[in-house]
Amino acid sequence: MDNLLAQTVTLPCGATLPNRLAKAAMTEGLATPAGIPTEALEQLYGLWSDGGAGMLLSGNIQVDADHLERPGNVVIDREPDAAMQQALSSWAKAATRKGNHFWAQISHAGRQTQANVNPHPKAPSAVKVGLPGGQFGEPVALTVAEIEDIVRRFGVCAAAVKAAGFTGVQVHAAHGYLLSEFLSPRTNLRTDQYGGELANRARPLLEIIAAVRAAVGPEFPVSVKLNSADFQKGGFAFEDSLQVATWLEAASVDLIEISGGTYEQPKLMGMEGLEEEEKQNVAESTMMREAYFVDFALAMQEKVSIPLMVTGGFRRRAAMEQAVAGGGADLIGLGRPMCVMTDAPARLLGGLDELPRYEQELSLFPAWLSFLEGIKALRAVTGFAVQFWYYAQLDALGKTGQAAPALSVFAATRRVMSLQKELLADRP
Ligand SMILES: Cc1cc2nc3c(=O)[nH]c(=O)nc-3n(C[C@H](O)[C@H](O)[C@H](O)COP(=O)(O)O)c2cc1C
Repeated sequence: MDNLLAQTVTLPCGATLPNRLAKAAMTEGLATPAGIPTEALEQLYGLWSDGGAGMLLSGNIQVDADHLERPGNVVIDREPDAAMQQALSSWAKAATRKGNHFWAQISHAGRQTQANVNPHPKAPSAVKVGLPGGQFGEPVALTVAEIEDIVRRFGVCAAAVKAAGFTGVQVHAAHGYLLSEFLSPRTNLRTDQYGGELANRARPLLEIIAAVRAAVGPEFPVSVKLNSADFQKGGFAFEDSLQVATWLEAASVDLIEISGGTYEQPKLMGMEGLEEEEKQNVAESTMMREAYFVDFALAMQEKVSIPLMVTGGFRRRAAMEQAVAGGGADLIGLGRPMCVMTDAPARLLGGLDELPRYEQELSLFPAWLSFLEGIKALRAVTGFAVQFWYYAQLDALGKTGQAAPALSVFAATRRVMSLQKELLADRP
């Protein structure tokens, strides 16, 4: 099985990825307050390009400056002017310097827009994020004209990144952001052509794929990040995901990346939410304990023949090789380990057996206070704080060229919050 991860992967559009390891999308927070890529982003992606992945996904690039997933997101909400075009091109150049692919993840944060960015974000319906702490505002339902405008923006953004030298795009339809909200009957209560039955709830996504494909042409990779399920009662279930996957295949998508969960139910990180997990109907294999979504991918492979990327939990090389050998995954997505070990793919290809599991060591609380994580509201707080530790690593890599793994979760949280404050204060 030795060389499985080093194999190339050819996509339906004809593009070939140099190996099976991909850096998953991770929001960087390193753009200017106006959403323009910076030298820090170039430095970060240069390091990752040197790190041996066959493909790098950007962190989510937003199509609307009023719907950031966090301050410091790159924003492409119109045809780029010369300065933006130049910044995007420099970023793409750094990110592809070792000959790997670099794809733009395009997104709209919907109701999961932070309240300090927008206290009344647009969403399919006025259903608020069910988390304590006031971090998210009161959403307002989109009009049909606004939905059509968002569809158009995805096309504009895709054309812009292609012109700048990115080598593919990914539409973010997972993790509880706008397109994932449309897919879920819990957050989409609409009664028009964008609500109700699954075909209607998937309509914005499929319209976006059509707009993106029209913008980039037939030979450019177009991918979708899709939840296997939201793992919430009455939410987007695995049967729905299988159906959407078949529609995406028919709509000329080249690759589906499978993840799962939302802010309310953060299964993407292998974490428990505040509400009980809704179990899904999928055969459980014993071989894949560490990879959260590989069983879903195995079942999806029976329905679609396009390549699948599976992201979430992969740390052991043997598990990655097994996922590929067993037919579950064509590409393996790596997230958190890449926040410190930027050359994790090269090391795995060179024979490293296992990547670091920072998630097992990090907590906001010292060990003697760890019982506090049993309290539901505090579990959500510590979940976000640990996330800030990864943000601080990306910030350090971008600005200094080195990660800062010795930083405590508490210090990282303070640092990231102060960076966010500065970015918010300087927003145009
Ligand atoms: C710091 C950080 C930022 C993330 N940002 C994004 C993002 O912008 N878009 C996305 O689809 N997923 C995002 N994710 C989720 C990752 O892509 C991935 O699904 C998750 O980390 C699970 O993979 P892992 O176990 O290898 O870390 C982020 C994760 C982390 C840790």
